[in-house]
Amino acid sequence: MQSMKIAPSILSADFSRLKDEIQAVEAAGADWLHVDVMDGHFVPNITIGPVVVEWVRKVTTIPVDVHLMITDPDKYAPDFIKAGADWISVHPDTCENPNATLNRIHELGAKASIAVNPDVALKRVESCFNHIDMVLMMTVFPGFGGQAFIPEVLAKIEEVRGIIDRRKLPILVEVDGGIKSDNISRVRNAGGEVIVSGSGIFKTPSYADTIRQMRQAVRQT
Ligand code: DX5
Ligand code: ZN
Repeated sequence: MQSMKIAPSILSADFSRLKDEIQAVEAAGADWLHVDVMDGHFVPNITIGPVVVEWVRKVTTIPVDVHLMITDPDKYAPDFIKAGADWISVHPDTCENPNATLNRIHELGAKASIAVNPDVALKRVESCFNHIDMVLMMTVFPGFGGQAFIPEVLAKIEEVRGIIDRRKLPILVEVDGGIKSDNISRVRNAGGEVIVSGSGIFKTPSYADTIRQMRQAVRQT
């Protein structure tokens, strides 16, 4: 298992001060920046597009991890990569042919990831495992920040970790939804490597203290 990476989701940031917020989490020790893209079709919420990612890219040096929750990733993923996304995650139900979408993301120069909703079995995405650099395990149903963590997904995270380790696949395990300093150790122990946290970081008074607490919580288990 790789060393843990913390990826604050800017969905819970103060958008009137987005540059400051990004630079503050970066200075506080964030490893990646998670960007939640929602189109009001695949999920009942609308967030941000490639224009914002272009500006995000200009104010940070850490990897930009774009989570596409949109019905047409084949059409829009290229725009996000052009805007500077290092990582693109797609949901399998939004792709006519997930492996073709993942290959295209690679051709355009980004890393590719497949997202697994809480009610989706790993079997549904196993045929993608030779085409991805990361699997994104959702611990909430996508659509909104600030939802409660679904602990039943932990078993599935252990399962995917087992498959990756047994087959020695070069795939990172990212976990997203409802993660805070009080449950991060369970996610890490189940095999999570890239830990997304939106409200768990941006809704706390000191990002540096929170990220420090998160790393400490993991070390103590
Ligand atoms: C959910 C998003 C998550 C979310 C994380 O649709 O994919 O990335 O914003 O936010 P918290 O940590 O607040 O659940
Ligand atoms: Zn996300």
